[in-house]
Amino acid sequence: MNTPAPSAGAPIDRASLPALFAPRGVDTHKGSFGTVGVVGGGPGMTGAALLAARAALKIGAGKVLVGFAQEAAPLACDPLQPELMLRDIRSLLDEDWGVTAWVAGCGIGTGALAANALSELFVLRHEAPLVLDADGLNLLARGDIQPNWGPGPVVLTPHPAEAGRLLGIGTADVQADRPGAARKLAQRFRAWVVLKGAGTVVCDPDGDWRVNTSGNPGLATAGTGDVLAGMLGSLIAQKLPWDHAVAGAVWLHGAAADALVAQGIGPIGLTAGELADAARALRNGH
Ligand code: APR
Ligand code: MG
Repeated sequence: MNTPAPSAGAPIDRASLPALFAPRGVDTHKGSFGTVGVVGGGPGMTGAALLAARAALKIGAGKVLVGFAQEAAPLACDPLQPELMLRDIRSLLDEDWGVTAWVAGCGIGTGALAANALSELFVLRHEAPLVLDADGLNLLARGDIQPNWGPGPVVLTPHPAEAGRLLGIGTADVQADRPGAARKLAQRFRAWVVLKGAGTVVCDPDGDWRVNTSGNPGLATAGTGDVLAGMLGSLIAQKLPWDHAVAGAVWLHGAAADALVAQGIGPIGLTAGELADAARALRNGH
């Protein structure tokens, strides 16, 4: 007899995420809210890393650094978010910045510089959590990097086509059984999995899964995945309990899009960068 599949947990909704709305303690400082390191933004994809980094900052990380996967950082300062610390990839990987959660892969590209940087990061991060997105997943699917990511927790954030590449199946097969695909990935890679798309599935490394209830087709626009990756890294760095951080980022991202649509900012023409402000307002109870 087959082992029965674990049943789906409760849906991911606002009521299940009290940690997302817990007030800040009075005696806190920026070190209380973690340091996010974003590794991504290869040539021509600078914006992907910036979107992730800005979102990480706006939903509450104490500090956010970016290491661009380019020979030199393409800009010294983000004019829209000068609080971000922008570095080239060597600077971010070679010096100790005290990063407490890593977000890697957003627009990183699939060349040797990207593959080498990620392989190095897997070793040096040691126990710091890692969110791996986009081309990081494509490099993994191609066998250009290995899942030797050490003891710290990992979150993989594929969209259905990326999930298909990782599993060696077609996108339609992923979509035909989304919880099943998420569970296979979680078990194969010993990781948390966020299988994106309408009804995002969040699966823990043991195969227990939940489905998100927020979000809308306004999210079907470039860069929204980068924003989600930044939010995941941010809530993890802020040390929310793991299930609240992962499910919380997914819910908050969708709920931000829902709030924007209610204001007439979408679904048509919603832009990824607008999500971070809407998510910040939600976390602050507005
Ligand atoms: N309903 C609800 N949510 C949606 C919908 C929808 N109809 N469409 C998209 N989304 C959400 C997804 O759940 C996910 O959170 O929007 C986000 C889209 O993420 P990605 O597909 O990763 O999109 P993007 O940010 O443009 O990716 C940037 O990374 O994945 C690669 O190929 C991608 O190079 C591109 C880069
Ligand atoms: Mg993406």
